[in-house]
Amino acid sequence: MPSQRLFKIFILGPQGAGKGTQAELVGQALHLPVLSAGQLLRDEVRAKTLLGLEIEETLRGGHLVPDAVSATVLRARLQQPDVLHGYVLDGFPRNLSQYQTFTFDLPTHVVVLDISEEESIRRLTGRLTCDTCGKVVSMHDGYTVGQACMCGGTLVQRDDDTPEAIGRRLGIYQTETRQVIDAYAAQGLVHHVDGMGTVTEVFARIQDALQLSSYGTS
Ligand code: AP5
Ligand code: MG
Repeated sequence: MPSQRLFKIFILGPQGAGKGTQAELVGQALHLPVLSAGQLLRDEVRAKTLLGLEIEETLRGGHLVPDAVSATVLRARLQQPDVLHGYVLDGFPRNLSQYQTFTFDLPTHVVVLDISEEESIRRLTGRLTCDTCGKVVSMHDGYTVGQACMCGGTLVQRDDDTPEAIGRRLGIYQTETRQVIDAYAAQGLVHHVDGMGTVTEVFARIQDALQLSSYGTS
């Protein structure tokens, strides 16, 4: 059953903060679809669409794809009927220009996951992603490269989890995405959540911050 309150929850945070991991949990808890800007773009690459071929190198290098591209992909996703009752969005907007042009919808809550740079790097160097369903797990939890995912796909390391690309993505977060967070904070929408600790601990903090206990999520 969809929740009675309208939730359009944006999750922002540095690379490896657990945006994708927590977005899935929040989406499951509230029975809402989860949209990941990064995954939508990787899907284009995987499907070898014209757009995917254009942005493949950009993604691998850890650069932001052009604002028009990310906005087009996201706008198309937001036209699907399943988002009518709300959604959880991970990774958009990432700079002031995207924030300013993102006039086709507005968040009800912005969750910012805060973690240290050391922890970002530790998590990303251990991350594995299913090449078919996009599920994210960690080598630190015993998963291995090449292992089969439950969907039948294979767990692989992401092309942009190299030290150079991780460094570039963290730099973009500090210089560009922080300005977006300041803009949402000025509207009173931002909930800073400590992203350090276990996945369960961080999820419990998000539930507290968004007062989700009445939704049977705890
Ligand atoms: P995107 O896919 O969004 O990557 P990112 O922002 O770099 O973030 P990550 O996905 O790396 O980290 P995450 O916070 O989701 O962490 P995760 O849950 O995986 O974007 C990729 C690229 O797409 C960009 O570089 C850009 O090129 C492009 N792009 C995306 N959005 C764009 C936009 N708006 N405009 C332009 N270009 C855009 O967790 C990481 C690991 O840690 C996992 O292994 C997980 O299992 C583990 N983990 C999670 N939580 C915990 C915990 N609490 N304790 C221990 N381990 C944990
Ligand atoms: Mg992610």
